[in-house]
Amino acid sequence: MSRVILSPQHPLSAGLTGDSRLIRAYRGEPSDTTPVWFMRQAGRSLPEYRELRVGTRMLDACLDPALASEITLQPVRRHHVDAGIFFSDIVVPLKLVGVDVEIQPGRGPVFGRGYADAAAVAELTSVDPARLEEASAPITEAVRRTIAELGETPESGATGGGATPLIGFAGAPFTLAAYLAEGGPSKDHLAARTLMHADPGAWRALMDWTAELTGRFLRTQVLAGASAAQLFDSWAGALSLADYEAHVAPASAKALSFVHDLEYETTDAAGAALTRSVPVVHFGVGTGELLGAMHGIGVDTVGVDYRVPLDVAAQRVGADVPLQGNLDPALLAAPWPVLEAAVRDVLARGAVAPAHVFNLGHGVPPETDPTVLTRVVELVHEAGA
Ligand code: CP3
Repeated sequence: MSRVILSPQHPLSAGLTGDSRLIRAYRGEPSDTTPVWFMRQAGRSLPEYRELRVGTRMLDACLDPALASEITLQPVRRHHVDAGIFFSDIVVPLKLVGVDVEIQPGRGPVFGRGYADAAAVAELTSVDPARLEEASAPITEAVRRTIAELGETPESGATGGGATPLIGFAGAPFTLAAYLAEGGPSKDHLAARTLMHADPGAWRALMDWTAELTGRFLRTQVLAGASAAQLFDSWAGALSLADYEAHVAPASAKALSFVHDLEYETTDAAGAALTRSVPVVHFGVGTGELLGAMHGIGVDTVGVDYRVPLDVAAQRVGADVPLQGNLDPALLAAPWPVLEAAVRDVLARGAVAPAHVFNLGHGVPPETDPTVLTRVVELVHEAGA
């Protein structure tokens, strides 16, 4: 794909986020200390989030630029994390092109129907994914509002007086297909795993379409001002390595092709001009067996869940790959000395990688005491220096 240079106003091009702790780490470079953010840092653990969300359905909140922006900023202000992650959901691009989907509290994404055979897939994929462009104004507007405010919170993620970077994200094709095939959440994603083998043609059509749609969603966020992109293949851990490589990895690579052509102009430490690409992170749950293959689709940083220690993950992805993770979220509710020891252990193991971005091994549990999260950020910044 030919290269596209981000606009001069983009935080990466404008020199606002390119040398932040987070973006340096995603390039494999050290900083003054270890950067930290939390998956699901925006959301139900925060009383200010619960208050804002009263009376607004989840997807309506995602599509309200003022609300989505404010919710994204809440954890940055409160915890001084090194990144904001855009408040949205993996099903938002589906909603934007007219798919019948809602998010039920305590359950997750629920569709008007399942898409588990060739006829259903043909109906779904008759919608042109390029239609997302016409519908993406609420996303672009929310990202713009957010980065304008993040420019004013340089005390956290930025070194040298820049801005805190915003991470854009999207669901990987398999994780979206796991919901689409079933018509809602499932434990083992059986409908998707059956379709993959029962009708490989229909499966490929579903994955191709989903890859383009979710890739465009990610691209929209980066063009509007996100400084990094994370692809969530949350449920890829349900797959064998062989199925992942044959039936899933090509679609994930296709999704990322929608951001891999985006570059920005900058200078190196010696002042010489160069262009860099936007850093990409790939994460899944229970993906210990897949880590090498997940890196292999062409990402800069691999996110690791809590089941595989970071030093072991480094052996699986290669010693030159930055890692993100991987405190077990269950420990957030443990007594402080237990939690502190676990945080220090994650930092020590993460030190084997060229750079480490501290995170949880999956999302913040809704019942988490937010003051504990703030304390973890302080500990990481102090101990990771
Ligand atoms: O702070 C952040 O991390 C950004 C926000 C974010 C949300 N969803 C908001 C949300 C992100 C990154 C996601 C991604 C997402 N959504 C994934 C991939 C990450 C992961 O968790 O593995 C998946 C699988 C989904 C689908 C989804 N959406 C689920 C399983 C749920 C939980 C349902 C529930 O209520 O337990 C959601 C809803 C959702 N997405 C909430 C939030 C804040 C909770 C809804 C609410 O507050 O009413």
